[in-house]
Amino acid sequence: MKVLVVGGGGREHAIVQKVSESPKVEKIYCAPGNAGIAELAECVDIPVMEFERLVRFAKEQAVDLTIIGPDDPLVAGIVDAFEATGLRVFGPRKNAAIIEGSKAFSKDLMKKYHIPTAAYETFDDAEKALQYLERSAEFPIVLKADGLALGKGVLICNTLEEAKAGVKTIMLDKQFGDSGNRMVIEEFMTGREVSVLAYCDGTHIKPMTSAQDHKRAKDGDQGLNTGGMGTFSPSPFYTAEIDAFCQKEIYEKTMAAMKAEGRDFVGILFCGLMITEQGTKVLEYNARFGDPEAQVVLPRMKNDIIEVIEACIDGTLDKIDLQFEDNAAVCVVLASDGYPVSYEKGFEIKGLEQFKERNGYYAFHAGTIQKDGKVLTNGGRVIGITAKGDDLKQARNHAYQATEWVSFENKYMRHDIGKAIDEA
Ligand code: AMP
Ligand code: GLY
Repeated sequence: MKVLVVGGGGREHAIVQKVSESPKVEKIYCAPGNAGIAELAECVDIPVMEFERLVRFAKEQAVDLTIIGPDDPLVAGIVDAFEATGLRVFGPRKNAAIIEGSKAFSKDLMKKYHIPTAAYETFDDAEKALQYLERSAEFPIVLKADGLALGKGVLICNTLEEAKAGVKTIMLDKQFGDSGNRMVIEEFMTGREVSVLAYCDGTHIKPMTSAQDHKRAKDGDQGLNTGGMGTFSPSPFYTAEIDAFCQKEIYEKTMAAMKAEGRDFVGILFCGLMITEQGTKVLEYNARFGDPEAQVVLPRMKNDIIEVIEACIDGTLDKIDLQFEDNAAVCVVLASDGYPVSYEKGFEIKGLEQFKERNGYYAFHAGTIQKDGKVLTNGGRVIGITAKGDDLKQARNHAYQATEWVSFENKYMRHDIGKAIDEA
């Protein structure tokens, strides 16, 4: 098979790695890819939002299967564009990707189908949102821009003043663009946050092993929100009991709800969960693999990813016995100092050869570029260092050891990825 992966970050590197392990695959393309992906796939210089060019490329190269990584093209309908020309493609159609693309849609879906989530109200009008806050809000409270906002459209406000300023930021100043035409105001929840990604075929849903992300830039969950500074898998807080609850009350209900709405969900459903004292609730849905969750979940998956993806497309996921290794993985993101605000790039990265021929260690490139035979930093998140171990503590030790093998001028990382393991 010839496979095309769309995207160019750490998540796509983890997907390409897994695809490359499939005996069914003879050729991998990745658009646009990055310097790490280039070792496994032929990188094609087409941006992820240029659907016509991507479709034409897939046709010309007789690509058998295209896998979409990022949220933007999914929400904008890349899967519909591929399907319209008869190409085989993995990801939710536009009418299903809306589960990530609109927070108002996903909250209304959960309310209608009794899927546990935080209480909320939706607003199209800043004045009404402000009145609501004055009248009835308890603090802290959570404000969310309706649409995609690079993971930054969520504001947690501790006081009425902060919340009013937040409404202005989202709805009037339009800091997140048109994503702020509507807004969700919701109850603040406390608890452990867990990510569960699941394969879906429109009818059946099979969750993968759990993971936890670290979204803030600095140790101790301080600093600004980022795309994710590190992950570990499995989560020790996501017990078999919680899993059984989620299977029945969240995963299966969500699949059935989307079907009932005529929006059959085929692809990866990412459930962002909060384990609260009142039970487990949905924080948000995403319509794709998480980044950097994929970097700890996929290396632990035993199945051939192509077989699982084909079963999703064909509606036969119930026939797949999804299996994960009985071990753990930790991913520590090496970033450019100053991320997510401002940072320099273009520094040479050294030490990557250490990862070759070493089982259970991976350097998943996120922001890198190849120039004159060298690999240079080319983004805020540069490389995710993943290591496996027999348990979480061993995996964490391995991952932090491996971070030492890699050097570049403004290398920055958190030193407490997986610290929560010690509290479990
Ligand atoms: P989201 O994009 O909806 O996942 O929100 C980003 C982050 O904001 C989440 O990962 C949580 O850490 C936090 N968050 C979102 N909604 C809530 C909530 N209702 N209560 C507490 N924290 C939240
Ligand atoms: N790691 C969170 C996300 O991919 O949205």
